[in-house]
This record gives sequence, C-alpha cells and structure tokens, in this order.
Amino acid sequence: MPLTPNILKSISSLVEGEKNLVANLANISSLLFSEGAWHWVGFYVHDEPVDELVLGPFQGPVACTRLRRGKGVCAEAWEKGKTVLVKDVHSFEGHIACSSATNSEVVVPIQVNGSVVGVLDIDSLDFDGFTSSEIDLLEAVVKIIEDIWER
Ligand code: SME
Repeated sequence: MPLTPNILKSISSLVEGEKNLVANLANISSLLFSEGAWHWVGFYVHDEPVDELVLGPFQGPVACTRLRRGKGVCAEAWEKGKTVLVKDVHSFEGHIACSSATNSEVVVPIQVNGSVVGVLDIDSLDFDGFTSSEIDLLEAVVKIIEDIWER
C-alpha cells in the first residue's frame, strides 16, 4: 500500500514528548515498515570518530553494520546531502546488497546544523518501488526527525 500523508501526523504524535532518539527512530522505522510494506526500513547514523555510517534502529532482515564513504547508495546520499533514488539496484555500480531480494532503494539524508548526521534507508522488493509522492513524504518524515534530533 502506498504511503499516505496521514503518516506525518502519526509520526508527530508518536514522538511527541519523547526525547530519546533511539526510541523515536525505532518507532518511526516500525511505522514506516508497516505502512509502506517495504522489505527493509531503517537508519544509519554517522559514527563521527571513525567517519562511517553505523546501523541504527531498523525493521526487516539483518543488515550490514557499517558503511564507508565512497561506496553504495547510503554513502552517496551521505556525501551529497541529497536524496538518492535507485529504481534498479542491480544497475547501480557499488550498490551494497545487504539482502539479495532488494530491487530498488531510496536513501534520504538527515541533516542537522549543515551536516549529515544519518540517513533513512528503505529497500523495496519491487523495481521502481517508490512513487514521487512517497519520496516527498519520506523527506517530510526526515524533516520531523531533524527537528527532534537534538531535542
Ligand atoms: N544498500 C545499501 C546498504 C544498506 S542496506 O540496503 C540495508 C547501500 O548500498 O548503501
């Protein structure tokens, strides 16, 4: 089922009054996973001392724990500070396949005070598995996350 704008209200009320980031990201990944019916939904957060992305709260199959600069879809979104949509992961050079069942992927960077502090990563079993209105909604979800990041 495609994501609807109701997701924004649900997420805002889910995180209202809670300051713990891990708890909030865990619940947001669960909500997106059930609403969007995707294969994998989760977060990678910037591990500053080593300058890598490390796995955060997620829903779905076991995933790669660490991602480095210069390789993969998450790294591209991290380094460019822009959403990266890959309609067919098999044609993306350097794609890191945590699950061989994934066919498309979108990654939205989370930016606080001008730096990328993490990414929202979603994998779909379908080729071209994300509509443009879903991507707009996912970017709006990330705006909510940016607002609560350092609350
Ligand atoms: N495919 C990602 C790696 C993370 S998994 O999809 C959960 C990438 O290429 O960066």
